[in-house]
Amino acid sequence: MTIDVLSTGQEHERKFPVQKAMTGFVDIHTHILPGVDDGAADILEGMKLVRMAWEDGTRALFLTPHYRGSFKENTPAWLHEVFSMFRQSVAEELPEMKLYLGSEAHYEAALPELLCEGKVMPLLNSQYVLLEFLSTSVRSQIVNGVSEVIRCGFTPVIAHAERYNAFRKDAALADTVLAMGALIQLNASSILGKHGYGIKQFCHRLLQQRKAHFIASDAHDCAQRPPLLQACWQRVSKKYTADYASALFRENAQAIIENRDL
Ligand SMILES: [Fe+2]
Repeated sequence: MTIDVLSTGQEHERKFPVQKAMTGFVDIHTHILPGVDDGAADILEGMKLVRMAWEDGTRALFLTPHYRGSFKENTPAWLHEVFSMFRQSVAEELPEMKLYLGSEAHYEAALPELLCEGKVMPLLNSQYVLLEFLSTSVRSQIVNGVSEVIRCGFTPVIAHAERYNAFRKDAALADTVLAMGALIQLNASSILGKHGYGIKQFCHRLLQQRKAHFIASDAHDCAQRPPLLQACWQRVSKKYTADYASALFRENAQAIIENRDL
């Protein structure tokens, strides 16, 4: 018996289409800026993370060090200084990789004021603020935080909304903050199920309802929290639509870069 290799292969491809690797991702949430928070420890690790992201298809990275706890001692002036040194190193090796500076701002009562005074950085000097809460923050604290940041003229991008108990327990909370004008970012690792079934299900519910705006890596290191988006892109573009996936991984981030409304 002979096997028609060509037609067998074509048949297989029809049933299980192979998706090509995508490039051009814009990762709006990473801890790659070296030596300033609990992400990249030094320039070597920072460069390793940038290389890893590039090989995975990312072409622009927002470097968003934590503004919380002891990391608050990093002033914007110091972060800009570290950023310009790091950008130079990246440009020598990967001149086409774009880097933007921002922060992941933990909500506290003083935050709106600090944002207005330029003491905490939004994303790339834009109207958008990557806003973090505690995993245990309750509904009223989240709604109040979103409202205060909006009152000061900023648009909150809620960092990894899936990680907060309040969002997972109360499906209406996402609707409430979206109606107020906030946007929602999910972590790629959560969508892929790396943090448990409940978190994964919550992400997919938001994606099905088109209520998420950004998917980012929240990368901290090469092993546990790497800057990888490709596997998640493959999953999301297959499960939902290519257009929505494109918005989540690339196009919506352009609104931040151009500082225009989404
Ligand atoms: Fe983060």
